[in-house]
Amino acid sequence: MPAELYEKLKLHSKKDVYPFHMPGHKMGRGMNFENPWSMDITEIDGFDNLHHAEGVIADAQKKAALTFGADHTFFVVNGSSCGLMAAVMAACKEGEKIIVSRNCHKSVFSGLVLSGAQPVYIMPENIDGFGIAGGVSTETVEKAIEENKDAKAVVLVSPTFEGAVSDIEKISEIAHKNGMIVIVDEAHGAHFKFNSFFPETALDMGADIIIQSAHKTLPVPTQVSLVHVKGKRCDLPRLKTILAMLQSSSPSYLFMASVDICREYLDTKAEEDFEKYVENLKGLRGKLSKLKNFRLLDADVNGKYGIKEIDLGKIVLSSDNINCIEVSKMLDEKYGLIMEMSCPGHLAAMTSVSDEKSGFDRLAKAFEEIDNIDFEKNAHDKTSFDIPVPKVCISPRDAFYKESTSCDFEKAAGKIAAEFVIPYPPGIPVCTPGEEITAEAIEILKKYKKFGGEIIGMKDSDLEKIQVLM
Ligand SMILES: Cc1ncc(COP(=O)(O)O)c(C=O)c1O
Repeated sequence: MPAELYEKLKLHSKKDVYPFHMPGHKMGRGMNFENPWSMDITEIDGFDNLHHAEGVIADAQKKAALTFGADHTFFVVNGSSCGLMAAVMAACKEGEKIIVSRNCHKSVFSGLVLSGAQPVYIMPENIDGFGIAGGVSTETVEKAIEENKDAKAVVLVSPTFEGAVSDIEKISEIAHKNGMIVIVDEAHGAHFKFNSFFPETALDMGADIIIQSAHKTLPVPTQVSLVHVKGKRCDLPRLKTILAMLQSSSPSYLFMASVDICREYLDTKAEEDFEKYVENLKGLRGKLSKLKNFRLLDADVNGKYGIKEIDLGKIVLSSDNINCIEVSKMLDEKYGLIMEMSCPGHLAAMTSVSDEKSGFDRLAKAFEEIDNIDFEKNAHDKTSFDIPVPKVCISPRDAFYKESTSCDFEKAAGKIAAEFVIPYPPGIPVCTPGEEITAEAIEILKKYKKFGGEIIGMKDSDLEKIQVLM
């Protein structure tokens, strides 16, 4: 039998396609790695051990800490998903409270299952007209802290997938006054430190632990992430132990070396490339902001919807009545432009310092043409995040391990979810184990499905049935 996966990838890599998706090296454009397979080794003498780093890996991590402005940096070869689970587990033990922004990535909820922590969910604001989550307002966090003084930590995603950065400075100040640590999922913000066009990093704004997917916006391969720690609030030995528990005992030297090369690039050569990248981004954004049928998520949202600043490296276009899944298909099939994500109401193109101006020009031209097509216009739902704070009945861990049964999805309101229900993209759960399923959640998911969105996490992804607690 032929190796179809390999053959398919080989074919794809030879096509004239342009990636507006991750990883940030943009199909090799930003990679500088000589004959990688000859360097794919294991922990032989002289090459240190990620899980007990005291040699060449420890040095590489120390250099990365300096570059990213951390006191300690840990290389993570299993993506930010692993870094987030480790951070949650390091911060909370079974039964301890943790304040969690409900638009966090599914790995944060996995961290809740693994740790046994008891979440107190808070909601982000909703960006008017986009149907996507903005930031979490300082007032929302402050209120949750006031009502839950015994919580150990606050976990937020900032920037969000679409680029919304919350006011981590004020939030950290309040959390720290109340003895809580601040964990920020900065998976989409590893590039922030390298040009002032982008928002300040959460670490610079006072967060204690931040998790960055270097692979999303910097030139490194998929899976390469960084956990950065600043200050003395994080229990470092515990974090290290948990990272070693969750990660492979054979971490890839190619991954670790690629982040080391990237760090060297950022220290020595990237400044000029970032200047060019920002110039190109400004040009692209200028053209896209003139489209008639699409609205570009832009800096006018700063200071509103819980957003301190939006990351302008993310190209998010929304339409009120054109299905963006169809637009994304057209971009792929007719123009060879592959988006990072699309859902009925919006689509997102991810950019990085490895992008070429020709790619940006191609995207602008395609959109200028698409803007003049007479699409079938159907008003679609744009309220995905306008949902009430879910009621947590039991902890995600207890719900995950309890007996469950299958229930008609349409009749599930009022029951307690035993599984995740995650529209993907963007990968943010609408239901999580242990919380009451609401009529609003059912309506949102039905609409998402109707307009062609995919739902994951459930036994029955057709959405006929849902697992509920017995
Ligand atoms: C907001 C957010 N956090 C965390 C992750 C997980 O990152 P990784 O793919 O590095 O595991 C993602 C992945 O898409 C994400 O969008």
